[in-house]
Amino acid sequence: MPFRRFFDRGAKDASAQPAPAGHDADVESESADEGEAEVIPEEHDDSDWRTRARAVMPTGASTGSKRAEGLYGSADATGPTHFSQAVGCRVIDADGNEYLDCTMALGAVALGYAEPNVTRAAVDAIASGNVCGLSSYREVEVAERLCGVIPCADNIQFLKTGAEAMAAAVRIARTYTARDVVIGSGYFGWLDWSADDTAGVPEGTRRAFRRVAYDDIAALEAAVSDAGSQLAAIVLEPVVERLPSVEWIARARELATSAGAVLIFDEIKTGFRLRTGGYQAYADVMPDLAAFGKAMANGYPLSAVVGHREVMDAARKTWISSTLASEASALAACGAVLAWHDQADVCDSLWTIGAEMRRGVTAAIEASGVGGVSVDGLDPMWMLRFDTPAREQRFLELAAQHGVLFKRGAYNYAALAHDEEAIREIERGASDAFVDLRDEDAGA
Ligand SMILES: Cc1ncc(COP(=O)(O)O)c(C=O)c1O
Repeated sequence: MPFRRFFDRGAKDASAQPAPAGHDADVESESADEGEAEVIPEEHDDSDWRTRARAVMPTGASTGSKRAEGLYGSADATGPTHFSQAVGCRVIDADGNEYLDCTMALGAVALGYAEPNVTRAAVDAIASGNVCGLSSYREVEVAERLCGVIPCADNIQFLKTGAEAMAAAVRIARTYTARDVVIGSGYFGWLDWSADDTAGVPEGTRRAFRRVAYDDIAALEAAVSDAGSQLAAIVLEPVVERLPSVEWIARARELATSAGAVLIFDEIKTGFRLRTGGYQAYADVMPDLAAFGKAMANGYPLSAVVGHREVMDAARKTWISSTLASEASALAACGAVLAWHDQADVCDSLWTIGAEMRRGVTAAIEASGVGGVSVDGLDPMWMLRFDTPAREQRFLELAAQHGVLFKRGAYNYAALAHDEEAIREIERGASDAFVDLRDEDAGA
């Protein structure tokens, strides 16, 4: 693997990682050492953190997928829920146990946790004053660089989360077209405009959003016909567990254009992963607007709505703003990610590394003889499919006991930090867990 030298140590050796070219190694190791001295909580085990979290948070975790139910399938599942340190692809939980991680922060991390270039860039930015009453120059610099790598991007506005960037894209499309109806396929975050099956959303908001099935041309055509002259946008998450048919995407493009509506791609997971410029670069299809987030800043909070100048101009006629949208640390982290993508074909490596991860896990399934489980998805974002949720939960618990964290459902994510040794450990942990599961299935 081309990037092994940056990630080939365990989390406890983080301070010994070599600094990237052009950076000063001493500052890196100092900050990592200082961090390590403080991060391992000594007096509370994982179950304490779970209990305390439930006492102060209504759902037990601010990120839904990080609740025990989200991680494993039920609130009382065994397995870590809180971490103290994450470096490369290794995680140390609140009890000090080390795991090899395949979840990579829900896809927010594609280089590796605490990647030295990114860490240094963010720390330097923070040390210079993370915010003030003026915009950071980095906002302009990073916007210019993103316009150079994202095909549809003439203009950009930064926000903090994927959901915000998607909401901004839809607001811009509605402003541009002076229409209300949005047709969507995919998950776009938690905000009202697309939360059609969630409590607490006004009926009028629900009515303005029409959900259609993934990769279903007939459903899309029917929804467009139904929306008629009220159609503001067709919003697609282009990759859901597999690539879509070329015909579906092409038809969406045609329908949006002929209806005078805006085509929006949600590239929150696909950007900086399938290709640097996302699915649109991978498949060579041009949306009018798109949203990026997650891997764009390797785990720092940054998202962006991007698009054609003419459509993005509508942002001036509405109001999209957030106090910390241009704080410097996440922009600096994004700058460091862009430097990685300038210097190496990061996404090509993610495809290669993901294929190796899948190969190892598939071999573990086959060698164990366990049934009812298969590997699916795309190489940079792949998943395990189980015949029942109960067996999935049990596998995830067993895998954690054997030192590997897999994602429940979609997705496990490849990162540059998954080097040969990590992939061997993933295969070994998966193999041990599948053998245990097989034996438990057999009542052994
Ligand atoms: C495709 C897609 N869009 C939007 C979002 C929402 O992003 P965030 O959770 O950063 O608000 C996600 C999050 O998983 C996503 O996967």
